[in-house]
Amino acid sequence: MVVALVSLMACNKETSDMENQDSIKLIKENPLTYRLPSPRLESDMSAEEVMKKRRSHRHFVSKSIDASDVSQVLWAAYGITQKANHKQLRGGFRTAPSAGALYPLELYLLVDKVNEIEPGVYRYLADGHQIQQTIDHNVKLELSAAALNQKMIHEAPACLFYSAIYERTTEKYGSRGENRYVCMDLGHSAQNVYLQVEALHMGTCAIGAFSDDKVREVMQLPAKEEPLYIMPFGHYYNKREF
Ligand SMILES: Cc1cc2nc3c(=O)[nH]c(=O)nc-3n(C[C@H](O)[C@H](O)[C@H](O)COP(=O)(O)O)c2cc1C
Repeated sequence: MVVALVSLMACNKETSDMENQDSIKLIKENPLTYRLPSPRLESDMSAEEVMKKRRSHRHFVSKSIDASDVSQVLWAAYGITQKANHKQLRGGFRTAPSAGALYPLELYLLVDKVNEIEPGVYRYLADGHQIQQTIDHNVKLELSAAALNQKMIHEAPACLFYSAIYERTTEKYGSRGENRYVCMDLGHSAQNVYLQVEALHMGTCAIGAFSDDKVREVMQLPAKEEPLYIMPFGHYYNKREF
């Protein structure tokens, strides 16, 4: 009972430390790991305004964004909103729903121009709201080439990348997991990204057109991860497209 109480207090302390963190913190040099600032839960736009305004943006200005912006976007995509100890949940329930709460998605952040974060590729660790470096230099130009030369990937100051570990879902749901649920999970998460980015007065575009093999190579993906989406984001300018 006492042990349970002490560990509960420790857990609450950790939660409150994270809640109170308003700046980015370097927590490990190798691999380079940062704890991101806590997400803000208020915005100057209503959910309805954001949905009305949402559009895909493909032209980004060469202006740095803040660590608090990438923190917000990663949290909206797959952040933990309710801690839970069950192993399968990998930390807890998220901002996006997931079939069977199996959370098959893996998220990466490609950093080019983000204040206080070294350029490179980072895996998002939702438990603890951290990013951990997997590649120590900017690969957005190579990723752009692997995605039919869609220049917006190269131009944006930062980019989200989604992969999925299908077996997390197919072990339980078989072919239905493969044909439907993983991509449904992806859609929920990516829509959160669209709406969050809009609320930050920035823009993004979901990109599904790319060479799986080339993207896999550029991102140095583990064999069990399937590449699914690329979402560059940042401040944009409007250019008439249609
Ligand atoms: C599954 C999927 C894949 C997409 N892939 C690309 C892409 O590779 N390149 C691109 O410029 N836009 C891509 N888009 C964005 C669509 O072109 C865009 O959503 C559509 O034109 C409607 O415009 P809106 O998002 O501004 O409403 C994709 C969207 C979805 C849902």
